Amino acid sequence: MKHLKGIFLALFASSALSADEVPLSFNRDIRPILSDNCFGCHGTDAHDAKAGLQLHSFELATMRIGKKMDRQALVPRDRGASELWKRVSAKDPEEIMPPPDSNHRLSLEQIELLGRWIDQGGEYEGHWSFQTVAAPKGASIDSLIRAQFEGSGLRPAPPANRETLLRRLTQDLTGLPPTPEEIDAFLADQKPGAYERVVDRLLASPATAERLAVDWLDGARYADTNGYSIDDHRDMWIWRDWVLHAFLTNKRFDEFAVEQIAGDLLPNATEQQRVATGFLRNSMNTHEGGTIE
Ligand code: HEC
Repeated sequence: MKHLKGIFLALFASSALSADEVPLSFNRDIRPILSDNCFGCHGTDAHDAKAGLQLHSFELATMRIGKKMDRQALVPRDRGASELWKRVSAKDPEEIMPPPDSNHRLSLEQIELLGRWIDQGGEYEGHWSFQTVAAPKGASIDSLIRAQFEGSGLRPAPPANRETLLRRLTQDLTGLPPTPEEIDAFLADQKPGAYERVVDRLLASPATAERLAVDWLDGARYADTNGYSIDDHRDMWIWRDWVLHAFLTNKRFDEFAVEQIAGDLLPNATEQQRVATGFLRNSMNTHEGGTIE
């Protein structure tokens, strides 16, 4: 999973699922609430923390607080005992958090999310970019989708015919429709594993590499023009082809990142590793050649 295709395909798949039945995730569901509404007064700055309370880590949120050390903001699995819950769900304007004059206000849904998070253990997570990607325990994609259907009145559609299936798969993985020849070949392949063989063929294809590379190229602001008023020509496609090749050969993500950031500094840097640093030259630059940070 540390290779490019695994990572980018997983991103596609996870964006198709939404939250409800899946256990809450601190980073996805809770951190944004605390960060927008609480950290300004109860965050990393110990000096300025109101009531001496800091909520940005599990250790600090579960510390004993108050003059008598008789309470905790967070008591895992016990929202009733958690001062945090008492204060966000309080009706009294003297009690409620965030304070009304702070211009912050939690919606009922956010308050309930905080309550459910405490019930589920009140766990924190490190920054998402340092989390190891892991499949949800014991859950296949189908069962996660089925859980979404429950109570919504939705039902799985009947299986698609083979032509439709091929069209969807090819669109998903390449952004393009299948050719008539590819359709004929798939319809003619009646042996078991025909679908998996198409998946393998597509994953190995330049078209899938191109499709997967698009998000990276967009994020890195790839362009063969310099972006200012004259928007003059420049040659960044050499770097673009490096990215395409990285996806085609399913390069390891760490190498992909290191070479783009500092390929020229690697011992005995190859020409391709130098080309990779074109990543850093995608920014707009003026006609005179100056680069604006
Ligand atoms: C504008 C600043 C501000 C913001 C924003 C804010 N608080 Fe507070 N908070 C305070 C102040 C001031 C106190 C101390 C006075 C009091 O207890 O009402 C306090 C006290 C608390 C206490 C009680 C601490 C104790 O000793 O019992 C908790 C729990 C708390 N805040 C949680 C939160 C949570 C959760 C949020 C976000 C949803 C939040 N606060 C947002 C200013 C803020």
